[in-house]
Amino acid sequence: MSTATPAASIIGDRLKAETAELHTRAERAPLQAALIQGKLDRAGYAEFLGQMLLVHDALEQAIESAAEKHHGVRAVWGSEQNKAALVREDLAFFGVDPARVVPMAETQAVIGLIRDRSAAHPEVALGLHYVLEGANNGNQFIARVIRKMYAIEGSEGTKSLDPYGPAQRETWAAWKSTLNAQQFTGPEQDRIVEGAAAMFQAVIDVSDAVWRSVGKGV
Ligand code: HEM
Repeated sequence: MSTATPAASIIGDRLKAETAELHTRAERAPLQAALIQGKLDRAGYAEFLGQMLLVHDALEQAIESAAEKHHGVRAVWGSEQNKAALVREDLAFFGVDPARVVPMAETQAVIGLIRDRSAAHPEVALGLHYVLEGANNGNQFIARVIRKMYAIEGSEGTKSLDPYGPAQRETWAAWKSTLNAQQFTGPEQDRIVEGAAAMFQAVIDVSDAVWRSVGKGV
């Protein structure tokens, strides 16, 4: 297929199908499993939020710059999808100063990956962003477990996990439909899917590193 020819495959379908196995691995990562089962204490959850703050910060910079360079990224991403500000609010609720969060080696590696890959090809940022935007689908359930477990009234401490509240399902459907309406060449699609796969692995790596640091893993 020529690089000038729009790809026949639907990018959203490719993303879901080609990262399905990684999704299964991500939800089975011990830290993610502990979150959904209500077995992670506040300190562990806050530690994970802190590392994810650094990932969101790096991604937001990358996708904002990618949106300026690529029409498809510009059409799909909007600053209302940014979550770093919500992570900061969640951290504040748990008494963590975001400025004092120190990146773990795994987090530093993700930050480097985000910068390098999206600088070379802006559409890669969309694949990276797909993973964190799509994660809201599962995170809304984790948010419910956390509120119950830590006896939190309202959304305090869980805003970044459940940014759209009851509108989650329709917001995700609209996001995917806008994504699917964009024209990407075959090679661009391949890079978007590769970016998504790399981000899934990155979240697994960060989850495992936090799990070890809170003394649960080896
Ligand atoms: C305990 C952990 C998790 C649970 C229970 C969970 C659950 C779910 C559920 C129920 C959906 C909606 C599926 C659908 O309607 O088709 C979903 C979608 C998704 N999740 Fe997760 N998830 C978890 C962890 C994660 C993690 C850690 C990530 C990212 C690293 C992630 C990324 C995604 C993405 C990208 C989608 C969108 C798939 C698509 O429609 O293209 N999930 N998840």
